[in-house]
Amino acid sequence: MSKRSDHAVRARTQREDFELGGYRIPKDWMVLWALRETNMWPASFREPSKFDPDRFGEARAEDKASEHAFVPQGVGPETGHRCPGLDYATMFMQLFAAHLVRDYELSLPEQDTSYQWKIIPPEPKAGLAFQLTRR
Ligand code: HEM
Repeated sequence: MSKRSDHAVRARTQREDFELGGYRIPKDWMVLWALRETNMWPASFREPSKFDPDRFGEARAEDKASEHAFVPQGVGPETGHRCPGLDYATMFMQLFAAHLVRDYELSLPEQDTSYQWKIIPPEPKAGLAFQLTRR
């Protein structure tokens, strides 16, 4: 959390002072959801840095550890600020992934796949270059 003028990122600002967990958040301050910390939260995700899609499967369902465990498009009621593109984006990404794995071969050249955490959203340092070949 910081003063609006400290950031180039536009986000919501407080309409009035409030207190959370012993911290006073003054009016006009910008508040951002700490998505990285949420995704790395050990109470929700076992070995959060590991590529492990099975964590989302029915047997483990780590993303459902709490209402706020996995919230890439926000949380709360549809009448709140939750992303209205949630269903559309989910369907679109499923279609995209299905076409990608069905119609293309992917190869990942040697590169630094670690993240730049200082930007929002974080991006792979090397940009995640890969090669696509149509099947
Ligand atoms: C993978 C794709 C997407 C991601 C990760 C994403 C993520 C988000 C997030 C994190 C928020 C803020 C939620 C909050 O403050 O509680 C948001 C809000 C919003 N999103 Fe998305 N979004 C995606 C796709 C879309 C699409 C496809 C649309 C429109 C067709 C859309 C329209 C909006 C709008 C209008 C808001 C502001 C809602 C409000 O403040 O009332 N988003 N999105």
